[in-house]
Amino acid sequence: MRSADTEPILRVRGLTTRFGSRGRVVRAVDDVSFDVVSGECVAIVGESGSGKSTLARSVLRLVEPTTGSVEFRGADLLALPAREMRARRRSLQMIFQDPYASLHPRRTVGRLVAEPWAVHPGVVAPADRPARVRELLRQVGLPESLAGEYPARLSGGQRQRVAIARAIGLEPELLVLDEPVSALDVSIQAQIITLLMTLREQLGLTYLFISHDLALVRLVADRVLVMHRGEVVESGPTDDVYHRPGHEYTRSLLAASPGLT
Ligand SMILES: Nc1ncnc2c1ncn2[C@@H]1O[C@H](COP(=O)(O)OP(=O)(O)OP(=O)(O)O)[C@@H](O)[C@H]1O
Ligand SMILES: [Mg+2]
Repeated sequence: MRSADTEPILRVRGLTTRFGSRGRVVRAVDDVSFDVVSGECVAIVGESGSGKSTLARSVLRLVEPTTGSVEFRGADLLALPAREMRARRRSLQMIFQDPYASLHPRRTVGRLVAEPWAVHPGVVAPADRPARVRELLRQVGLPESLAGEYPARLSGGQRQRVAIARAIGLEPELLVLDEPVSALDVSIQAQIITLLMTLREQLGLTYLFISHDLALVRLVADRVLVMHRGEVVESGPTDDVYHRPGHEYTRSLLAASPGLT
């Protein structure tokens, strides 16, 4: 294997994000370190309030971490000036739980998919954009005819497909997925997961995948980070963590999880 295949693209060290001041301080993320290798799907699990979303947002600097470093392809994102961080964000895209909240209601699907290219104009030449929008819609399993529709006319699954098309249209390397299917009907969840796994294969994407659903994580993740009160209390290959959990908290999470036998 080439060393490039095993060299982490993301290297997080001592990442800490605190909220609040004088009064009560919440250490939402507390001294977290981990690596992600190109092409991996790394899951973050843990109960509500354990800091999963804050960790994801801290990695992308959607919230400013208190201390630590986030190296992406060798550059410390936390040390970048804001403008360079915005440029870099093209490579690190995030998919949220609620696609309705992340899609502007008064913009058509076609415009929503093309919009990120206004911020990152080098990705697709203006003349090629209409054809590229159609191609992206096909790629996420939507009919081209949806390009003229508004988000309110779409189902939850279709809206999440639009959010995915927007993200992959920037040709990112890393997708951070924060509970990407938990707002959807169970029957639709499987379709979106299948799409995400197909795209990972086709586009060589790397995933940081946040989920409450331990049965789903077992199916999709190569490695798992278990968060508890802001700390990563256990991490390892998915099979090892599920079959030989080393931490009491992991054992209780697994025991409380439906769908695991
Ligand atoms: N902007 C904020 N200001 C103050 N406290 C916050 C903020 N965002 C998160 N927190 C607190 O940080 C802690 C971690 O929250 P976070 O949303 O990261 O957890 P989570 O694991 O994503 O939970 P869930 O599974 O419910 O999405 C919680 O105690 C939360 O109340
Ligand atoms: Mg969350």
